[in-house]
Amino acid sequence: MPARIIGTGSCLPIRKVDNKELEKWTDTTDEWIRSRTGIESRYIAVEETTTSMAVEAARRAVENAEVRAEEIDLIIVGTVSGDMCFPSTACQIQNAISAVNATAFDLNAACAGFLFGLAIAESYMACGRAETALVIGAETLSKMMDWNDRSTCVLFGDGAGAAVVRKEEVGILSMVQGTDGGGGDALWCHNRPVNNPLVKKEWKPEYARMNGQAVFRFAVKTVPGAVMQALDQAGISAGQIKYFLLHQANIRIIEAVAKKLGQPAEKFPTNLQECGNISAGSVPLLMDMLNRQGRLQKGDKIVLAGFGAGLTWGAAVLTW
Ligand code: UT7
Repeated sequence: MPARIIGTGSCLPIRKVDNKELEKWTDTTDEWIRSRTGIESRYIAVEETTTSMAVEAARRAVENAEVRAEEIDLIIVGTVSGDMCFPSTACQIQNAISAVNATAFDLNAACAGFLFGLAIAESYMACGRAETALVIGAETLSKMMDWNDRSTCVLFGDGAGAAVVRKEEVGILSMVQGTDGGGGDALWCHNRPVNNPLVKKEWKPEYARMNGQAVFRFAVKTVPGAVMQALDQAGISAGQIKYFLLHQANIRIIEAVAKKLGQPAEKFPTNLQECGNISAGSVPLLMDMLNRQGRLQKGDKIVLAGFGAGLTWGAAVLTW
């Protein structure tokens, strides 16, 4: 497949909120959150927005990849929490970083957004429509939380991650994606209701809602299968993979996937302890952290996997 990740960047809000502080906001305990999810803290936007974090992550990825903004011909942002209905977050990034030659758009595949974006970038490259893409996952989920609903608000955080993807022979080896719209009622957030001269409704803000156990079951069942399918397509065994970078939703999901794949926990780096679940931002953010720690070496085989609302899922095998 003709695409390779050549640079990464990320951005988190300044304000960190640990579980103890959350105890003051909602009816929960540090002990419950740690033991059920592994999460210890998350970053919450105060001054930051989805766009501002995405722009900063994009700038850092462009710098890391050592490309010029004018070389970028495609910008895709996976997000469910854009600041505006339109223009898209991607259009705002294009303007902010002066990527004047880029076509830019957002996509909504929830927590699989970065994986879906990567697949689109790769397809554009395969058919000759793009050479250098920015793929970004960015979220300000804190604005979509009902802070009285302890079953969701303790899980999520804000942040953004970005990758520069270039048309090259060695890189992405395989990609698998899937959707089960029938599971849409496991995790949802309503948009504005119909409201016009014919239909008058009182409009209250809507918040994210989740059937946590349904999402948990879906993740544990679907992710190992998607990863194995991607490994098969790449002709690579799980043992040859250096790191599995999974969506950071719950440490118990990651442990269950590791077990099903028969791989040791050390191969599954995490940042959910510090960052919580950042939906589309979590996989690229984790990838950037590893990259900047010097843990990704040229030639390493890596798996990326995202899953979430939709239901949606995606997995990729790549050579770093
Ligand atoms: O990006 C993808 C999106 N989401 C996910 O991947 C989430 C997947 N699901 C999960 O991670 C887990 O299902 C949760 C962490 C959301 C919940 O864990 P659980 O072990 O499935 O707990 P539960 O929903 O069965 O709730 C157990 C108890 C309930 O109390 P009772 O009925 O047993 O008395 C809840 O009311 O825990 C209670 N509870 C809490 N207690 C303290 C739920 N949330 C909290 C909380 N603090 N924050």
